[in-house]
Amino acid sequence: MKTNVILIRAHGGADNLRYEEFDLPPLAEGEVLIRNTACGVNYADIYEREGDHGGPHSAKPMPIVMGHMAVGIVEETGPGVSTPSAGTRVGYIGPNSYAAHTIMPAARVFPLPDALSDDVAGGYLLRGLTAEYLVRRLYPLGPGKTALVHAAAGGMGLLLGQWGRKLGARMIGTVGSDDKMRIARDFGYDAAINYTTEDFPDRVMELTDGTGADVIYDGVGKSTFRPSLDCIRPRGMVISYGTASGNVGEFDLQLLHSKSIIVTRPTLRSWIADAEEARAAAQATFAFLADPEVQTPIGEVLPLKDAADAHRRLESRATTAPIILKP
Ligand SMILES: NC(=O)c1ccc[n+]([C@@H]2O[C@H](COP(=O)([O-])OP(=O)(O)OC[C@H]3O[C@@H](n4cnc5c(N)ncnc54)[C@H](OP(=O)(O)O)[C@@H]3O)[C@@H](O)[C@H]2O)c1
Repeated sequence: MKTNVILIRAHGGADNLRYEEFDLPPLAEGEVLIRNTACGVNYADIYEREGDHGGPHSAKPMPIVMGHMAVGIVEETGPGVSTPSAGTRVGYIGPNSYAAHTIMPAARVFPLPDALSDDVAGGYLLRGLTAEYLVRRLYPLGPGKTALVHAAAGGMGLLLGQWGRKLGARMIGTVGSDDKMRIARDFGYDAAINYTTEDFPDRVMELTDGTGADVIYDGVGKSTFRPSLDCIRPRGMVISYGTASGNVGEFDLQLLHSKSIIVTRPTLRSWIADAEEARAAAQATFAFLADPEVQTPIGEVLPLKDAADAHRRLESRATTAPIILKP
């Protein structure tokens, strides 16, 4: 069958995104066809479009249908699939999601609870699962812990602030403007630092009485990683989970020695690779996103064909709440 997708034929800027008709193969054993209703726009899509980030975003053969997650309705099931049945509302983390229809393995889709709208799941499923492993499993937050989150008013930052606070941790966030400082405080942060006008390591050391943060969640990368080492406490963990400002690049391992700093560069893929772990992570994420105390605003809702505008907005640092695309 034919469907409409956003694809690239060469790596590069947002102008390379094309809205085209695309042939889908027949369903194979264990697969389902999903009619997407809300496609998430995540930083991973920008890395894939640019093609120079390596790791899980290493180049695939062209053309590449863009996207890493969406929600929709199962329209058809392939041979051997008993669940989910046709008509089930599902979300998934998987490729080819900037599309009207996507084929996924049935075992890798999550049936969505009624409490979660298509738009909220579209904006927050990937970010929510990421926040889940970051604050519950990679570095479990709780009372007595102080966390520093970079880009606290971005899509990931809004979730990390609220989840960390719910777990009882003290949350400090960095942001790129004074307006975003107000947003960060509204979303769970005890303190916000404008890192374009203030020296954030100095401020964090002040706020922690000279000790440093227990953990730093860094989705910004190039501009924040190195100074973060100056405000982590001895034996603390710096989690470089994203590179919105560019790759961190090479650094001297000896920089970690004097404070026994732990550095990790995780990807969601490894944290939901096991089906059991993925189910438990999804359950915790859905419960968090559906909690009436948790705010899950959606920024812009754009037609799928306007994916290039969505990328330009996310890259420009203009967005706070997530953007979603509607096929
Ligand atoms: N490893 C994983 O498992 C995983 C999974 C999901 C997401 N992520 C990462 O999480 C991060 C946040 O993702 P998101 O989609 O929610 O994006 P986002 O935080 O809404 O947007 C990125 C933010 O980064 C900040 N930033 C600082 N310097 C920048 C620069 N030079 N260019 C662009 N932005 C810059 C901006 O906030 P300020 O203006 O406040 O500085 C911007 O709003 C990304 O790095 C993404 O790769 C990682």
